[in-house]
Amino acid sequence: MINLYDIRYLRIGTSNLDSAIEFATRIVGLQLVGRDGKAAYFRSDNTAVRGDTRDHTLVYVEGDPSNHAIGFDLRNAEEFDDAGAQLERAGHNVHYGTQQECELRRVRQMLSFNDPTGNRIEVVARPFHTGLRYHPARGAGITHFSHIGLRTSNAPRDEAFWTRLLNARVSDWIGDAPLLRINTIHHTLALFPSPNPGVQHINHQVEDIDDVMRSYYFLREKGVKIVFGPGRHATSSAVFLYFEGPDKMVYEYSVGVKHILPQDEAGYRPRQFPFAPESFCMWGSLPDIPEFRSDKKEESTPLRSAA
Ligand SMILES: [Fe+2]
Repeated sequence: MINLYDIRYLRIGTSNLDSAIEFATRIVGLQLVGRDGKAAYFRSDNTAVRGDTRDHTLVYVEGDPSNHAIGFDLRNAEEFDDAGAQLERAGHNVHYGTQQECELRRVRQMLSFNDPTGNRIEVVARPFHTGLRYHPARGAGITHFSHIGLRTSNAPRDEAFWTRLLNARVSDWIGDAPLLRINTIHHTLALFPSPNPGVQHINHQVEDIDDVMRSYYFLREKGVKIVFGPGRHATSSAVFLYFEGPDKMVYEYSVGVKHILPQDEAGYRPRQFPFAPESFCMWGSLPDIPEFRSDKKEESTPLRSAA
């Protein structure tokens, strides 16, 4: 088994780097920390909340907007070679990062492969941290980049990939979609059925519910399309707000995500929720996000009386 520790970064293509930078800084509230040639790097971590500050957590790269790569680091950097060997034994074509590729990602080692859906996954060892403080262009209250929604062409198959070859555990299901944890956070990735691969949404945690509501009014005033919320997830208990960014990428702010602590791991049982609006939002907000919308009314049919 390959022991991932945390999500480190996303690398996302864009056809317009300047407008992607504008959105990431002035709307989302990330800090631009570098622009090197055709890529822009953003930081998001508040050390006081997260305990450390990743060098960067998002990169926009000039190119095809459907090019997405997701970077994870290992619990133990010494397991890097073994991780590559396990992936190759499982039939995955593993690319070992060149020195230049590692420098661009600001890591000591990197390998990449495709998950069964075709999502580009990168596993890194000894990624850079920074001693510099995160200071965003807009005070959205972001404390850190926390999780992604990832598209899957076959949720049970990809759940098995992430939970057997890698160390992900199912925290809950909504329909077929597993919400997966690799550390104490309820989910670091969630697999949503979709006809296409790629990142489905990008989550940043914010300090408190006031930040969610401040952003709701801020985004509306700026003409940004709100696609879900404000609401509260029935699964992770987090209060959320989803909005649309460049190339229709969905961004999320949330606060209050549940943790499953080491002492609770042994007794924790994932819960099955129906694929229904109330499983995504217990307040009644309806998603304008294709992967969250349910046309399967049978699963949300009210219970019949026993009489
Ligand atoms: Fe989310």
